[in-house]
Amino acid sequence: MEKLLGQNDPKLMRYVDETFRPEDPVLAEIRERAARLGFRPIQVGKADALHLEVLTRAIGACKAVEIGTLAGYSGVAIARGLAPGGKLYTFENDLAHSVAARESFEKAGLADRVEIFQGDATRRLNEINPLGPFDLVFIDADKVSYPAYLAWASEHLRVGGVVLGDNTFGWGMIADTDFEDPADERAIQALREFNRELAQGGRFRSTLLPTGEGLTIGVKLR
Ligand code: SAH
Ligand code: DHB
Ligand code: MG
Repeated sequence: MEKLLGQNDPKLMRYVDETFRPEDPVLAEIRERAARLGFRPIQVGKADALHLEVLTRAIGACKAVEIGTLAGYSGVAIARGLAPGGKLYTFENDLAHSVAARESFEKAGLADRVEIFQGDATRRLNEINPLGPFDLVFIDADKVSYPAYLAWASEHLRVGGVVLGDNTFGWGMIADTDFEDPADERAIQALREFNRELAQGGRFRSTLLPTGEGLTIGVKLR
């Protein structure tokens, strides 16, 4: 499944691929191993992985949090962007995913910078409260919990810290009014609540970066 940029013109993604080379062999191996393990290919697109690394670097992030690790594809990108001595705390419900992710961080030479918390992030996130405030929070787990994850991030990011949410175009359904599947409707309503709070809630200055799947970014103001 190719994850396209911009106007969904494959030529544009090919250009970005050739010029910016977002996926190195370490990331490609993670994507391929995850597929062999039977995981759905729902890691971020390669261009979004590079966006994550560059944004992490741009803000000089030292302490980052990821919610939804899968096999560690986006986690490797974030961990690569951390300042020296930085740490990524990443949360993953599924045991097999967390085992694959540990292998990924080891193979990437990043194991010392990453701590995996296996279990439901809605329950386990509070364990890292004393380690905050954090510089960056990347939200990419169950969509219905995005508003709860954002509420946590609002409290535990530093002022000037960044929250990111993946899939905020809701697989193209974010602006739809009719839904066939009630699960889709619940996910989309949660994504809308997440975007609305970031855009209009007063605690963040935010935008929705129109990447392949939509990447909402907010900077904490207060
Ligand atoms: N960020 C990853 C992709 C994450 S896919 C990447 O780009 O490489 C979403 C992941 O969230 C799945 O692995 C799923 O098992 C996990 N997940 C879903 N609900 C969760 C929850 N409540 N707590 C922690 N992880 C959860
Ligand atoms: C799904 C979840 C994701 O985080 C993603 O990037 C793509 C798909 C999903 O649950 O279908
Ligand atoms: Mg996602």
